[in-house]
Amino acid sequence: MSPLLKIATIETLYYDRIYALHGLSLEVKEKEIFTVLGPNGAGKTTLLKTIAGLLKDQPKKGTIEFMGKRIHRLAPERVARLGIVYVPEDRGLFRELTVKENLELGCWGRKDSHLKEDFEFIYELFPILKERAGQESETLSGGEQQMLAMARAMLRRPKLLMLDEPSLGLAPRVARQVYDALLKISQAGTTILLVEQNARLALGIATFGYIMESGRIVLEGTAEELKENEDVQELYLGLGKETPSPKGWRLYKKRRTW
Ligand SMILES: Nc1ncnc2c1ncn2[C@@H]1O[C@H](COP(=O)(O)OP(=O)(O)OP(=O)(O)O)[C@@H](O)[C@H]1O
Ligand SMILES: [Mg+2]
Repeated sequence: MSPLLKIATIETLYYDRIYALHGLSLEVKEKEIFTVLGPNGAGKTTLLKTIAGLLKDQPKKGTIEFMGKRIHRLAPERVARLGIVYVPEDRGLFRELTVKENLELGCWGRKDSHLKEDFEFIYELFPILKERAGQESETLSGGEQQMLAMARAMLRRPKLLMLDEPSLGLAPRVARQVYDALLKISQAGTTILLVEQNARLALGIATFGYIMESGRIVLEGTAEELKENEDVQELYLGLGKETPSPKGWRLYKKRRTW
């Protein structure tokens, strides 16, 4: 089956001279969770913004195909209309509006008959949003804001849901809840592209992953393969075998192979 999203050798630049993505290629298969892992500044956010059409005239080179059609350099509204919904790192909520008002904006323009069942789905995923319906979204906790952003995104009935570091700044227990919800969203049939620094959480639910550093994919594989990879274990999963020397200094760190 051809992939839902296919990115081939894209280059994205800031100010026409700073390369943020260097000939990057990746695919996302329908109904699966694909993840892109990488440290600060790797280009993860730039990748999602490039796909969403939020960076004008980018990618400078390369192609992005969604459901077999070229979407690169389309305006963001047109990309969104094709069913690509993006939850940014700052969650993009209307801070002074209530939870309910934010959710209603998620339904804007919808004329289909599935609204009721979609609200039932998101309230079942995140019961707290029903309790907080009348509360201004800026007064929600970080975890509740992430849940609201995900719920609002689901009301757009995405064909591809893209999330930028949904676990960022959340306590482990809350991050776990967010990830459990993502798994349920996936099981209900939505394709997900997730960028993260938290490799443990992301590889726990994804089927396939890419490791990105300095605007390039340096390693790719199934989640199982990545979890078994020694460099991934040491650099991303914190499972390094290195032990401090008796005098207290650390052994020279193993060079990664990519
Ligand atoms: N608006 C911008 N103007 C100029 N350079 C930018 C801009 N946004 C990002 N960059 C640069 O592009 C590179 C990739 O940044 P990006 O935000 O995509 O990384 P990231 O992987 O999302 O990092 P983080 O994990 O910190 O969110 C960085 O070197 C960054 O400084
Ligand atoms: Mg980022």
